[in-house]
Amino acid sequence: LWTAANIIEDQIARVREQVGDDHVLLGLSGGVDSSVVAALLHRAIGDKLTCVFVDTGLLRWQEGDQVMAMFAEHMGVKVIRVDARERFFAALEGHSDPEAKRKIIGRLFIEVFEEEAAKIENVKWLAQGTIYPDVIESAGSKTGKAHVIKSHHNVGGLPEHMKLGLVEPLRELFKDEVRRVGVELGLPHHMVYRHPFPGPGLGVRILGEVRPEYAELLARADHIFIEELRRHGLYDKVSQAFAVFLPVKSVGVVGDARAYEWVIALRAVETIDFMTAHWAHLPYEFLDLVSRRIINELRGISRVVYDISGKPPATIEWE
Ligand code: XMP
Repeated sequence: LWTAANIIEDQIARVREQVGDDHVLLGLSGGVDSSVVAALLHRAIGDKLTCVFVDTGLLRWQEGDQVMAMFAEHMGVKVIRVDARERFFAALEGHSDPEAKRKIIGRLFIEVFEEEAAKIENVKWLAQGTIYPDVIESAGSKTGKAHVIKSHHNVGGLPEHMKLGLVEPLRELFKDEVRRVGVELGLPHHMVYRHPFPGPGLGVRILGEVRPEYAELLARADHIFIEELRRHGLYDKVSQAFAVFLPVKSVGVVGDARAYEWVIALRAVETIDFMTAHWAHLPYEFLDLVSRRIINELRGISRVVYDISGKPPATIEWE
């Protein structure tokens, strides 16, 4: 009988058998898949699991603190938090090409992860949040985006010289099954039913050159949007929603003075498969509220626009 509880029991037994007394390393990203793997492995092998969480500076608002609160403090999972923000910003300085930015972020992520991994003694296994659709996609194509996505998220470049075996307890599951397993393992609903977030994070939502002050403004604007979507019961009605930082200045009036400040675009889409998408028809009053909050609360933003482009031709992300 297929139930989340049975899958968990089955996977716990398999993992225990696979790794014995060895230590396991996991890259925890804050996303659904790696979070579910962390919870599952913690239940299976407890202290023999060490997670590495890399703060790239390109994450969602306070994501690092939330990951630590949830896994380290609440569940007692061993998590090493690496503050790599300055390294990411330094590496991205002067780069505005989207694919170049993706490559820099992906490469540096692996580098930082490897450095941390090398400091941990006795590790024999690398756990990954590979799920069934990833297995199919990477079998079909070695160069497509899907492969790039997972190789980034799941640190596909790592095991070579470290000679780590792979532990992939979600390999046979579809996304909705992964979510049900997560809920059964006690992860909060808001974490398990999160919108997707791209591996390169805010790096591809800041158009052109990435700067720390842009990332800060964007994370805050995005948080306001997401917070209001949740408050209005709209978060689960859209497939993905986020803010984008446009490095364009437009004139505004703040108080009595003229200001010349940045623009934030809001994007919300409805989609089944993320291959095609419609822009979400969010209520005008709602958009009005979000726009006001962003402009009033964030110094440096004087204009908010809503993206009404479908995919195709517009992709969901702006880069
Ligand atoms: P696009 O922009 O191609 O996005 O319409 C489709 C879905 O893929 C996500 N996406 C990415 N995910 N690394 C990721 O892990 C990436 O480089 C990347 N680019 C797009 C996007 O958020 C959407 O859910």
